[in-house]
Amino acid sequence: MKGVVLAGGKGSRLYPLTKITNKHLLPVYDKPMIYYPIQTLVDAGVRDILVVTGGGNAGDFLRLLANGKEFGLTHLNFTYQEGEGGIADALGLAQHFAEGDRLCVVLGDNILEKPIKVAVDAFRQQERGARILLKEVTDAERFGVAEMDGDKIVGIEEKPEKPKSNYAVTGIYMYDETVWDKIKTLVPSGRGELEITDVNNAYIAEGAMEFSYIDGWWTDAGTFDSLLRASRLVAETGAGE
Ligand code: G1P
Repeated sequence: MKGVVLAGGKGSRLYPLTKITNKHLLPVYDKPMIYYPIQTLVDAGVRDILVVTGGGNAGDFLRLLANGKEFGLTHLNFTYQEGEGGIADALGLAQHFAEGDRLCVVLGDNILEKPIKVAVDAFRQQERGARILLKEVTDAERFGVAEMDGDKIVGIEEKPEKPKSNYAVTGIYMYDETVWDKIKTLVPSGRGELEITDVNNAYIAEGAMEFSYIDGWWTDAGTFDSLLRASRLVAETGAGE
């Protein structure tokens, strides 16, 4: 399995912090934000990793991460997303890198307390399809939200006004090689982006979506409140331990 960290976007919710740098280079307690998703992948045994970035500061990622020595890696891959086409558009740039392999995708602003290795291993055993990670939250309307029927996900709504559950779809997604055809059928959403939620709903429609629950805390870091929360959580308990 290969890994992809998505670290593009404008970071407009963090303006003016993101006026002169990329969101994923901002500090979360004692490390740049992007360190956390890379470490999450490495700890899950995923060592062949592509960083998708964009905007005016893409070169800083290469300078910061180089060949991944800080993570015990000997090589990292980089690619560049032109424009602001959304998460699924950024993921589409990983097709040549995947070479038909399965992927574990982590959004560059998602930070977890505990390793995700058990879920990644479950996906390694899965015959086909996708697997997402869910977390119970109190502010589900900020996220993609899973609609559950017993122990099945029957649909996902992106930032619904009235969430049908408290289960946020976190920014960790595992896909088989059919993801590329699904991305090609997408049309831009109301916010003008190709939505990862539409990719996930395509897997649900095929009956090919599995899920795991996240153990320990999980947070994004793309707003002022969640960025502060992320730093506090890392300072108090550490991440990935
Ligand atoms: C994205 C996804 C959303 C998901 C979230 C997790 O939202 O669209 O479904 O719940 O990441 O961090 P964004 O933060 O890009 O608005």
